[in-house]
Amino acid sequence: MLEDVRAAVVAIRRVTDFVPKVALTLGSGLGNFADHIRVETEISYRDIPGFPISTAPGHDGRFIFGYLGEVPVVCMKGRVHLYEGYPVEKVVMPVRTMHALGAQILFLTNAAGGIKESYHAGTLALVTDHISDFVPNPLIGPNDNEEGVRFPDMTNVYDKELQKVIQKAAKDNGIGLDTGVYVQLSGPSFETPAEIRMIRAIGGDIAGMSTVVEAITARHCGMRVCCVSLISNLAAGISPHPLSSEEVSAAGEAAEPVFTKLVTASIEAMKEIA
Ligand code: HPA
Repeated sequence: MLEDVRAAVVAIRRVTDFVPKVALTLGSGLGNFADHIRVETEISYRDIPGFPISTAPGHDGRFIFGYLGEVPVVCMKGRVHLYEGYPVEKVVMPVRTMHALGAQILFLTNAAGGIKESYHAGTLALVTDHISDFVPNPLIGPNDNEEGVRFPDMTNVYDKELQKVIQKAAKDNGIGLDTGVYVQLSGPSFETPAEIRMIRAIGGDIAGMSTVVEAITARHCGMRVCCVSLISNLAAGISPHPLSSEEVSAAGEAAEPVFTKLVTASIEAMKEIA
């Protein structure tokens, strides 16, 4: 295990022996989701040595350990992004830490720009695949063979069985759920209309500034991964007005009840998954 991850785990284990099954990462404006967790312990990132601290709006920085239904979860309230200036290995350090604490499933969420024609602001989209080529790969550098293989397969990053669980939870709760291919860009500037046309041309449906580096890391260490994006806005050139982080946060707040229901129902149903 990497030295900094080992040190983080030691610091966390001094506070709690909680073993999560699902690790949940909350996106912009979705931070209030944590209110729905039956909390056991909270740990601020500031109390974990070497841990990256989020500076993004709406990204409080702490781990929340607790239960959704019967399922033990660790929730990242606040994540760090490449655009904050952290090297990619720091951005993904929380994923490796949650895995080292016992989490077998990584449930990623994010707010992102929508490109696919069926989307509107407020659409929830199940991520079925991604394009990583615009951001540094988190696995560049020496490989830790105990953590994972040098050349991990990326054919099925987003676990088919977990996708079915989320689709069933959406159906059972009357929640509309589209699908899409997520493309991570570095940010922090939003895309230009020409960049969005390029992303559409190469097969992308969703443009965002997170998620893919975390998903690659989780697959590397053998976690099962799933992701739901909130389309907080139509992407540049499709939206009739300029984009802003206020719009992204407002869309997060507006979608909170339905998003909460979908994520809660999905994770509760993950108790059946080995
Ligand atoms: N582009 C990239 N990231 C985003 C967007 C967007 O339009 N909206 C929210 N996050």
